[in-house]
This record gives sequence, C-alpha cells and structure tokens, in this order.
Amino acid sequence: MATMFLLVVVLSFVASALAGTPCPDRQSIYPCSCLALPQGKKVFFTSVTCHRLHSTDSLTVIFPALRTMAIDHLYLYDSFWEANKLGTEEGENKQVLPTDWITLLKVKEIEIVDTTLSPCFACHSRVACRNSITTRFTAVNSSSHDKICTICKTDKGGDFTWTGCMTKLRQFHFQHGKLTIVRSDLFPTMMKELTEVDLSYNQITKIENNAFLMTPRLKVLNLSHNALQSLDAMFKGVKLLALEQLDVSWNLIKSLGANFFAGAPSLKGLKADNNDIVEMKESEWQGMGKDLRTIDLIDNPLHCDCNIRWINSTFSVNAVIQGVCATPEDYENSLLRKASRMLNERCTAEGSIGTRPNTKATTPSSH
Ligand SMILES: *[C@@H]1O[C@H](CO)[C@@H](O)[C@H](O)[C@H]1NC(C)=O
Ligand SMILES: *[C@@H]1O[C@H](CO)[C@@H](O)[C@H](O)[C@H]1NC(C)=O
Ligand SMILES: *[C@@H]1O[C@H](CO)[C@@H](O)[C@H](O)[C@H]1NC(C)=O
Repeated sequence: MATMFLLVVVLSFVASALAGTPCPDRQSIYPCSCLALPQGKKVFFTSVTCHRLHSTDSLTVIFPALRTMAIDHLYLYDSFWEANKLGTEEGENKQVLPTDWITLLKVKEIEIVDTTLSPCFACHSRVACRNSITTRFTAVNSSSHDKICTICKTDKGGDFTWTGCMTKLRQFHFQHGKLTIVRSDLFPTMMKELTEVDLSYNQITKIENNAFLMTPRLKVLNLSHNALQSLDAMFKGVKLLALEQLDVSWNLIKSLGANFFAGAPSLKGLKADNNDIVEMKESEWQGMGKDLRTIDLIDNPLHCDCNIRWINSTFSVNAVIQGVCATPEDYENSLLRKASRMLNERCTAEGSIGTRPNTKATTPSSH
C-alpha cells in the first residue's frame, strides 16, 4: 500500500515535470490567456500568452494563479508600454518580471517580444533565486538599454545572478536590443547546460575576456548583426571545447585576431559573411581545428595576392569556403580556394605576382 502510494506520487511528479497543467479559470489569469493542448492521457502542452499588459501590475495580480501551474511556454508580447510612458523610476519598476518569478513560476520556456523591459527587469527577488525548470529564455526587441542587470540584490541585501539561477537553462536569446558590451557578468556563475546563446541584432562592439568562461558546453554562439571590429579578445583565456557554430556575420570585423581558433578548437561552421575582412592572414587561420568545414566569407572585401597561397593546402579538402576575391581586378569574383590555386602557380618564389597581361582572354576564370 505504501509503495503503491509512493509510486503514484513519483508518477504524478514525473508527469508534471514533463508537461504542463490544465488551464485555470479564465478570469484568474485575465488579461493573459491559457491554452492546454492534450498530448496524451492527462498530459498537456500548456502555454500562457500575455498581450498588451500595461505594466507589471497586471502580472502581479494573476501571479497566485500562475504559480499553481506548470507552464511549457510563457509568451509576453507588446507589453509595459503604459509604464514606459511614465518615464519615472516608478515606471521602471513596472516594466519588470514579478517579484520572485524566477523561483516561483514553473515555466519551461519564457519568450518576451516587443515589450519594454527596464534594465533590471529580472532582478526582483526577496530571496536568492532557484530555478531548475526553465530551459529557454528569450527576449526579442524588448530592451532599449545598453546593458542589463545580471547581478541582482535580494531584499536582504545579498547578491544573486538571475541567469545563474536557471541551472537547467539551455538556450539564452537576447536579440534586437541595444547591448553594447558582452560583459563577463552576463553569465557569472557556471552554466553547465547552456548550449546556445544568441545575441544577434544588438550593438555589441566588445566582448570582455572571460565572457564565456562559465559556459563550457556552449555549442552555438550567434553574434550576427552587431558592431564587432575584431574577435581578438573574444576567447582570450577561454577554451570553448564544445563550440561548433559561430555566427559573426554582419559585423565590422577586419581580422579574426591571433589565437582566435585556440579558443574554439572544435568549430565546424564559421559564418563571417558581410564583414570588412580584406586580408586572409595565414597566422590567424593556422590554428583552426580539423573539423572546420563551412566557412562563409561572402561579401567581404577580400584581397587576393600571393599571400593567400596557403589557403588551398591549409584548409581541408572537404572544407567549403564561400566567398570571392574583391581585389585585384585580375581575381575579382574568383572563389578563394581557386584564386589560391592559381596564385600558387603564378606567384614567383619571392611572393610577387609575375608579369601577366591583364586582358579578358586570360582572366583566371578561363583556367
Ligand atoms: C519592436 O517593437 C516595436 C513596438 O512593438 C515595433 O514597433 C517594432 O517594429 C519592433 N521592431 C522589430 C525589429 O521587430
Ligand atoms: C543567427 O541569427 C540570425 C539573425 O537572428 C539568423 O538569421 C541566423 O540564422 C543565426 N545563425 C545561426 C548559426 O543560427
Ligand atoms: C591544392 O591542394 C590540393 C589538396 O591539398 C593539392 O592536391 C593541390 O596540388 C593543390 N593545388 C595547388 C595548385 O597548389
């Protein structure tokens, strides 16, 4: 009998840990709405959607009802604009997630879109937070501040980091914002499960050393559509052994910097299209891992002279290198690897391009 009881308890725990609960009364979570899609016997995919909330107050009112639920997906959309109009400190405090949300809400995926969040939107907590449920946190077009608070104070004056509280977090997306620096306090404590970080469409000019020291499992890092000029310090002192995909497209990158690949030895894909890379420096690329298979350098002002002869023999034969030379005229629009081969044949031992008439009939593409 006792074991039976225990079994039931364990089973119901497993069920609630894997899926959402049925929806409560409509009024109890109004103005948000709830949808629980049956996924099998007593198993639901539960999503709660909140549209056009004036301020945090609307969430605070329904917080008791939300707390009782297990929610797969919480979607906060186009909200807090009224509070934003106040423009006061009080207004700031009304563009935040409710107090103790991180510990008390059981939400797997949180998605915030087109909402005005204050910089310390996630910090309101009476006690140090705890959360082993949230696996994904996304905020898109929801902050016009150049930084967000990650180190927060409890009411009792202690410190905690809200990102670090989410011990099961796998994906962290903060897109279409105004972040300028990726600081080492974005993830100040060990994030063992974090595999995906997307900070695309911000205004990031700098990544602090150690910014990714606490994310050893990071597999996909997206920094596209920012304002980085170099990747020099990005992995300084950090080795991201699991990093497979790095997207730094649509930045202002001129060079990868020395030792770039030392920090990302398992990289399989590097998207660096739409940057300002002119020179393919052998010294910068020599450290690349043997798994690097797709390299996107499309729309860079690449200059192809005798200094790129190394490309053909250094990249694996299976590596796909996209991108064409922009200059000199002789090699305009030739694929990098092809240009490198041609230059191998053409450059004299001293490294200068030998004499060659620059006529259409003998352009490189006719080889
Ligand atoms: C961001 O949100 C505002 C307000 O809802 C909207 O007008 C704007 O189009 C959004 N921008 C993007 C890039 O989605
Ligand atoms: C990075 O983000 C951009 C824009 O949000 C997206 O188009 C791109 O596919 C992402 N890259 C990767 C590798 O996921
Ligand atoms: C290019 O590289 C391939 C494979 O490493 C090699 O077989 C070939 O001879 C090289 N071609 C030139 C022109 O260097």
